[in-house]
Amino acid sequence: MVVSGPITAGQVSFLLGIIPVFIAWIYSEVLEYRKSASVSKVHSDNNLVELGNGTTKEDDRAVLLEGGLAKSASAKFHSSSIKMNLIRFLTMDDSFLLENRATLRAMSEFGAVLIYFYICDRTNILGDSTKSYNRDLFIFLYALLIIVALMASLKKHSDKSAFSGKSILYLNRHQTEEWKGWMQVLFLIYHYFAAAEIYNAIRVFIAAYVWMTGFGNFSYYYIRKDFSLARFAQMMWRLNFFVIFCCIVLNNDYMLYYICPMHTLFTLMVYGALGILNQYNEIRSVMIAKIFACFLVVILMWEIPGVFEILWGPLAFLLGYTDPAKPDLPRLHEWHFRSGLDRYIWIIGMIYAYYHPTVERWMEKLEEMENKRKVTIKSGIVAVALFVGYLWYEYIYRLDKVSYNKLHPYTSWIPITVYICLRNFTQHLRNYSLTLLAWLGKVTLETYISQFHIWLRSNTPNGQPKWLLCLIPGYPMLNFMLTSAIYVLISHRIFLLTNTLKGVFVPTKDDKKLLSNFLAGIGISVALYSISFIVLQIPHTPA
Ligand SMILES: *[C@@H]1O[C@H](CO)[C@@H](O)[C@H](O)[C@H]1NC(C)=O
Ligand SMILES: *[C@@H]1O[C@H](CO)[C@@H](O)[C@H](O)[C@H]1NC(C)=O
Repeated sequence: MVVSGPITAGQVSFLLGIIPVFIAWIYSEVLEYRKSASVSKVHSDNNLVELGNGTTKEDDRAVLLEGGLAKSASAKFHSSSIKMNLIRFLTMDDSFLLENRATLRAMSEFGAVLIYFYICDRTNILGDSTKSYNRDLFIFLYALLIIVALMASLKKHSDKSAFSGKSILYLNRHQTEEWKGWMQVLFLIYHYFAAAEIYNAIRVFIAAYVWMTGFGNFSYYYIRKDFSLARFAQMMWRLNFFVIFCCIVLNNDYMLYYICPMHTLFTLMVYGALGILNQYNEIRSVMIAKIFACFLVVILMWEIPGVFEILWGPLAFLLGYTDPAKPDLPRLHEWHFRSGLDRYIWIIGMIYAYYHPTVERWMEKLEEMENKRKVTIKSGIVAVALFVGYLWYEYIYRLDKVSYNKLHPYTSWIPITVYICLRNFTQHLRNYSLTLLAWLGKVTLETYISQFHIWLRSNTPNGQPKWLLCLIPGYPMLNFMLTSAIYVLISHRIFLLTNTLKGVFVPTKDDKKLLSNFLAGIGISVALYSISFIVLQIPHTPA
């Protein structure tokens, strides 16, 4: 059943890298324990309190970092040069280990999670089972989640609008996170139960994520004007840190997790669109020209046959993918198909973000109108939205998969716009959100990547996850519950770990340090990889 393939140099490098970290971490804990045991009891209690404080600080830091607000959180790690740090690490310098105990712990935990991934997906230690779809069960589970979320986590927010100071917030952070959350749950259980009948809806959800990439990143760069290297590096770290390690440890292509390259590409496009000549961003005509230029780039790249292959050919080593189940397709087919589906929607997201202040002002006026006119206008908008939504559903959504995909790039903005209108047509709807779903919405990237290996199973390098991870054979529902709990917990841990490690390795204010960290990272990886490569050349003596 499991085809784990030969051991790769990447996997050996990972082991070579993680084992010393693991040993160093254990040793640092022993040192810490000895230190606290050697002082008086009162003192050790103090230490405990400090430790407790330390962890909450760490959590706060993750939250802050997520908001992109944190100053460099661990200056300690950078206080001495990288070479010194490496030497102190390799010689197991006591004070170094004690200073960086939290970092070592985070790295070890991250490594342990990846080993768990490998065990779940590429060994026969845990079982697998097949997927089965039952519409009744599918809807039941989803409805149950929504009801629980409604009863337990409906929350009113009283944040003020960034533009006007009034509490009219269409598309605030809570709302987008909630939106991501409910879509993500459907997206995931669509995979878990192989609910092929909602394929078209899933395409719309993915378009909505890309829309949010355009919307969120545009707003950020337009308002904050922060095109710094540090910010850029942090964003790339957030999007790609975890997935890179999954590719190495599980010997997968980057394109297997197509959401990651896709969001990276569109994030880069938004960054480019706003970053180039950013001193003119305030001028309306320049902005409109930029948006036109984006459309032009997309038309050139995707609509003219052949251009895509020529432009992306040099990057085929990175973005190529061959599904073992369909070995005959060209290497770039998957990248062309996936990126092509959502080629326009990020620009639509940018446009919505650009006109966001205008719409907000307009909505303020609407809220201030006398009640009867307000209700008339609002009902008018809702009626139009519902009607357009219905037309879209009837004539586009209900097409079969292949014909739907042909129209998708040009029509996915319709359901998205309808949703936005309906989601915020009263003050109440705008102010409330379901925090349970918003919580899930924060970890969409992690749940997306983890699902392949610790919830579902792909069983082979580059395989699509066709099986389910089975911990309790014979009890599909109990198994679903247990694997889901572990899976969501681990995804959330990875989210926190990614942030913690980002704070350590991607300094905010110091570009020189950032660059030297980057070079050191490359250096260490190359060294580990070369050693592993040589180790693998040694002929194996048959046991
Ligand atoms: C930019 O888009 C990426 C990908 O969706 C997202 O992770 C990131 O949070 C966005 N940045 C901002 C500032 O919204
Ligand atoms: C909700 O937000 C959308 C976003 O563009 C806006 O067009 C719409 O008018 C808003 N709805 C109401 C009723 O204000």
